[in-house]
Amino acid sequence: MKADENFEIDAESVGFGTFSDVYMARDKQKDLTVALKRVKQTNNKDLNNIIYYGACREVAILKTVTHENIVAFKGVCPNSRNRRQFYTVLEYCDYDLLFVRLNLTLSTPEVKCLMRQLLEGLRYLHDKKIIHRDIKPGNILINKDGVLKVADFGHARECKEETNSFSNMVVTLCYRAPEMLLGERNYGPAIDVWSAACVMAEIITGNVLFHGHDENSQIAAILDTCGPISKDVWPGVELLPLFKEKVSVLSSDGKRRLKEKLMPPLNDDFAFNLLDAILAYDPRKRLSSRDALSHEFFAAEPKAEVDLRGVITRLNQLEQQTESSQESDKLDIAHNKENRRKRRRRRRKRRTNPYSLDHQN
Ligand SMILES: Nc1ncnc2c1ncn2[C@@H]1O[C@H](COP(=O)(O)OP(=O)(O)OP(=O)(O)O)[C@@H](O)[C@H]1O
Ligand SMILES: [Mg+2]
Repeated sequence: MKADENFEIDAESVGFGTFSDVYMARDKQKDLTVALKRVKQTNNKDLNNIIYYGACREVAILKTVTHENIVAFKGVCPNSRNRRQFYTVLEYCDYDLLFVRLNLTLSTPEVKCLMRQLLEGLRYLHDKKIIHRDIKPGNILINKDGVLKVADFGHARECKEETNSFSNMVVTLCYRAPEMLLGERNYGPAIDVWSAACVMAEIITGNVLFHGHDENSQIAAILDTCGPISKDVWPGVELLPLFKEKVSVLSSDGKRRLKEKLMPPLNDDFAFNLLDAILAYDPRKRLSSRDALSHEFFAAEPKAEVDLRGVITRLNQLEQQTESSQESDKLDIAHNKENRRKRRRRRRKRRTNPYSLDHQN
């Protein structure tokens, strides 16, 4: 299968990741729209190898998973112009969850519906002993039918052993669990559930829940909202490799202020209770994806039975409004440019023709 022969690639990519560009394409034989993900090439050979290895690992994991809430893998095809590159063929999804940062208020059933699907996807992965390790809005897609798909398996790992020694430098900083920030390398699926809670808070408020710019400020942001970390709430935390190093940052005497931070716009006690239970410091006390799905938030009225295509319609309307206001901005700019040009022309005329009407005025 060759990309050029089998696919009509839309030259404008639909998504830019850190390591890859994603293109919309038409599978000529099947007459089907797909997404083609191609890793980026840099000038750094070592980095290229790491990126290539990540892409191979993504394919290896995607091949083993099939679930409604996981992006469907359709194969790989070589890039005829570059032997070190290949395209990963994926089902095409129109949106990613980054839209939650736009001014779009979601109803409680819509939040439930998104979170139920995200947790279903995670439960499936965790049952198969796979940790995603990069759950964040940009890696959660929605297709045109309003079905949520977990995507981007570039950092995913199997966790079949009793003890592991994984890197603690994965997961995008704002969504990284506290145990990883304190140097834990023997972590498990609980890190994905922490990220999922951060996503849920973001869906509700439209803002990133813990917004650090480096490890220390990330820990500080978490402490500021979730209160101090101590042996009482997290027995054994003092044994984590970076606990002592970060102890000055950790010595916060504040209280847990999660409710204050989320309410309003969060006005649902069940939603708060779910977030509170997932955002437990101690990963052993944190709700698992399976337990989170049984939480009363999902059982309580109003239920999650809602068609997410309604969100897509509102999103399209919002995008159209933004586009048309940008268009009118552009027209204003063009108008101003034209005015400036006219003024310049007039000034030139004045210089060359001292008797022009302009000059007399
Ligand atoms: N199947 C798909 N259909 C449509 N768009 C997609 C698809 N997969 C990814 N995208 C878009 O492309 C972007 C980048 O893809 P992806 O997250 O897989 O790349 P990455 O380089 O691994 O990203 P990251 O920056 O998270 O490391 C996504 O945020 C999403 O907007
Ligand atoms: Mg990504």
